[in-house]
Amino acid sequence: MKNNRRNFLKTGTVLSASALAASMLSAIPARVTASPVTTGDNGGSKNQYRTLGSGKHSIKVSYGLGLGCMGMSFNRSFIPNTKDMITVIRKAYEMGVTLFDTAEAYGPFTNEVLVGEAIAPFRKHITLCSKFGFDIQNGKLTGGLNSQPAHIRAVVEQSLKRLKTDVIDLVYQHRVDPKVPMEDVAGTIKDLTKEGKIKHFGLSEAGPESIRKAHAVQPLTALQTEFSLMTREPALEVFSVCEELGIGFVPYSPLSRAYLTGYINERTKYIATNDNRPGLPRYKPEAIVANWGIIDVLTAFGNQRGYTAAQVALAWLMAQKPWVVPIPGTTKLAHLQENLGAATVDLTPDELKQITNDITAIKIVGDRCATPQTK
Ligand SMILES: NC(=O)c1ccc[n+]([C@@H]2O[C@H](COP(=O)([O-])OP(=O)(O)OC[C@H]3O[C@@H](n4cnc5c(N)ncnc54)[C@H](OP(=O)(O)O)[C@@H]3O)[C@@H](O)[C@H]2O)c1
Repeated sequence: MKNNRRNFLKTGTVLSASALAASMLSAIPARVTASPVTTGDNGGSKNQYRTLGSGKHSIKVSYGLGLGCMGMSFNRSFIPNTKDMITVIRKAYEMGVTLFDTAEAYGPFTNEVLVGEAIAPFRKHITLCSKFGFDIQNGKLTGGLNSQPAHIRAVVEQSLKRLKTDVIDLVYQHRVDPKVPMEDVAGTIKDLTKEGKIKHFGLSEAGPESIRKAHAVQPLTALQTEFSLMTREPALEVFSVCEELGIGFVPYSPLSRAYLTGYINERTKYIATNDNRPGLPRYKPEAIVANWGIIDVLTAFGNQRGYTAAQVALAWLMAQKPWVVPIPGTTKLAHLQENLGAATVDLTPDELKQITNDITAIKIVGDRCATPQTK
């Protein structure tokens, strides 16, 4: 499987047996060309990999984009059937994706079970990422945090079972827990790493001070924080510390929870019991309408170059730094193909500047979250 996939990446050869998959895969590039790119030492195309982290704490990620699996079970309204989501995850792998993102909190639990089953045939060839840190009682998220060392250990054991694996490649603390010193969290991860249960450590929505404290105890491979053309500030605040310490950056909600695709609008109806968007200021109908100039910018640019709004939004992220690896989520093969196509978008410095200036000129209405996330 691995060799086949490598060959596919090198030659663009279509491997899937089904006609549908063949027609989809044929549009996928043989290699990553979004710029700027890292110089891989894999002996293949220099554009084939991006790297998160540095030294022995680094991970090479093929394709430059990962797959966020949350929405297949959690927070994105409908929950599609498991069989089809397994197909989406497996097709992503066939198309060259090696970074798969889940968390204990997604469901809770059900998303890890889904991902564990989907990746089983190629487990050893991918980077499996999960997260701990939310308080869950009787199978429900309480809204609180829990990064107590004993709890981290218990969660990792349970995640390993659900993911059907004996090691998690990258484990993030989902949110900084003000009640637990970061040194204790990082120390627990260090021990779990020595025990062979975790390979790499990451934080999510952590500020510079938390990053430095954690990194001093157990070097971080990646920071996963919301970052998109609509939500630039949280990431830009930590880019310099990531660069200084050699920590990769994984933008979550890189399509701003579908907004940047132009796929949702003020008439979109959400299933409120399984969607966080109705509670977020930016997804109120009046904010959706007020911010639509962003879609106009992305669409106008995309129309000139032959790309969709989603592809321009993802390419803009990838062009920020060679150590940025977005993880767009989708439940649809068509969207997966479209999103992976962003890796072929080669933005010139002038184009990048133009998109940034045009979007920065738009005053975004509505906060990204109801309460501050980064600590
Ligand atoms: N660390 C954290 O705290 C945190 C928080 C949130 C998310 N995450 C991670 O980040 C991943 C992605 O985040 P996200 O799901 O919040 O946001 P996202 O990737 O920005 O957007 C996902 C939404 O966009 C839609 N979409 C994707 N591609 C599309 C396309 N080409 N055209 C039209 N619609 C498209 C999806 O619907 P369809 O299914 O219809 O394509 C889905 O509703 C998650 O899966 C999760 O792994 C992490």
